[in-house]
Amino acid sequence: MKSTLKIAIAGLGTVGVGTVKILESSRELLKARSGCDVTVTAVSARSKGKDRGVELSGYAWFDDAAEMAREADADVFVELVGGSDGIALESVKAALERGLSVVTANKALLAAHGVELARLAEAKGAHLGYEAAVAGGIPIIKSMREGLAGNQIDRIYGILNGTCNYILTKMEATGETFGAVLEEAQAKGYAEADPTFDVGGIDTAHKLSLLAALGFGVEVNFDEVTVEGIETITAEDIAYARELGYRIKLLGVATRTALGIEQRVHPCLVPLGAPIAAVDDVFNAVVVNGDAVGQATFEGRGAGEGPTASAVVSDLVDIARGAVLPTFGIAASALEPLKVSAMEHHEGAYYLRLQVIDQPGVMAAITVILAECGVSIDSIIQRGRAPGESVPVVILTHETKESVMMTALEQFRDQDAVTAEPQLIRIENF
Ligand SMILES: NC(=O)c1ccc[n+]([C@@H]2O[C@H](COP(=O)([O-])OP(=O)(O)OC[C@H]3O[C@@H](n4cnc5c(N)ncnc54)[C@H](OP(=O)(O)O)[C@@H]3O)[C@@H](O)[C@H]2O)c1
Repeated sequence: MKSTLKIAIAGLGTVGVGTVKILESSRELLKARSGCDVTVTAVSARSKGKDRGVELSGYAWFDDAAEMAREADADVFVELVGGSDGIALESVKAALERGLSVVTANKALLAAHGVELARLAEAKGAHLGYEAAVAGGIPIIKSMREGLAGNQIDRIYGILNGTCNYILTKMEATGETFGAVLEEAQAKGYAEADPTFDVGGIDTAHKLSLLAALGFGVEVNFDEVTVEGIETITAEDIAYARELGYRIKLLGVATRTALGIEQRVHPCLVPLGAPIAAVDDVFNAVVVNGDAVGQATFEGRGAGEGPTASAVVSDLVDIARGAVLPTFGIAASALEPLKVSAMEHHEGAYYLRLQVIDQPGVMAAITVILAECGVSIDSIIQRGRAPGESVPVVILTHETKESVMMTALEQFRDQDAVTAEPQLIRIENF
């Protein structure tokens, strides 16, 4: 084993600077734990002159991260730039080609190129660590790959995006609209200037596709994740859900079914008593169902400088200890193509909110449509009277097929008395 592990870090933003800080401040601790001096030798970012609040003068500077990957005096290349392609992909490939181990926090990169990069790492005998890419400070990759290695996993689900969880928590607490809370989250730095990836569910889908590969031994397949974001959730939906005994959370859910793997990201009603319902603000949680362990729940901070850098450093300690582990839990060559269970086969209960004109016969028309589609109603709320005006009708269904609910939705859209796009939210009775 080496006495020194040399690290080259590309990207000196939130996570990069956090990583440098831990490597400097916990040097002795990391040496004691890994038996190796984990030391930064080279760094790269866009602007050399920027004050980053850490001392960088002792490290070789590279303007070009790919050049650093090819030429730096390093054993490990740490990619903390971001983006699914471009310099992140180019530099990670260059580092692996050279036989360096790689650590990245970049879920977008792995969701797009995970299989190819895992194969390359395997061919070169290198380790590809991505603990920081999923659920930030929660050690979910290590837990699934090592701690739960004795289990056949049948379902993984979780709150994987702190921005969405913060927005939903705040909407519930204040009754404010999605737009107002998003603006506030942006002002506080909890949401990006362009929030599309977060609130649209794409970031969650990136992470879910990695967990599905790891849990089920299948190739990463981001394109087959059904994705819906939280943009259409209203404070009214959150209040109705609460009244009915639920909270609304954006979940990523990957399930092994008889038809294949179902991967979906969308807002869900979760029962108030479910552990995941109590996960608030920017926190993340992941629940893994294994045949031997039963249900294992992990909760913690999913983003931010400290938690994400903590995960990056854990990968570095693994590498310092000599670990070269299969990226997705089994040999990259043994990963099977993901056999998809399409969303139309999903079965579950649903929350439906219809805006309808308050007039005689409307309730009957709604219930007839559901009955003719074969959907049975669990409960129904229509409160207040406003003759001739639009009022909400909220319905919870019993378990039914997604394809059946979609047919019912089409019919509701055709009704003159239905004045707005119906709101449909899936219920997860964990
Ligand atoms: N922030 C989090 O809480 C968090 C959590 C989990 C995962 N991640 C992931 O971690 C990665 C980094 O995120 P971050 O929040 O630290 O990003 P960030 O604060 O925006 O930092 C990005 C860094 O990359 C550098 N950079 C940009 N283009 C570059 C290029 N062409 N060559 C070299 N360096 C370049 C920037 O340089 P300048 O500073 O000179 O502009 C900056 O230092 C992303 O993949 C992100 O998804 C972040």
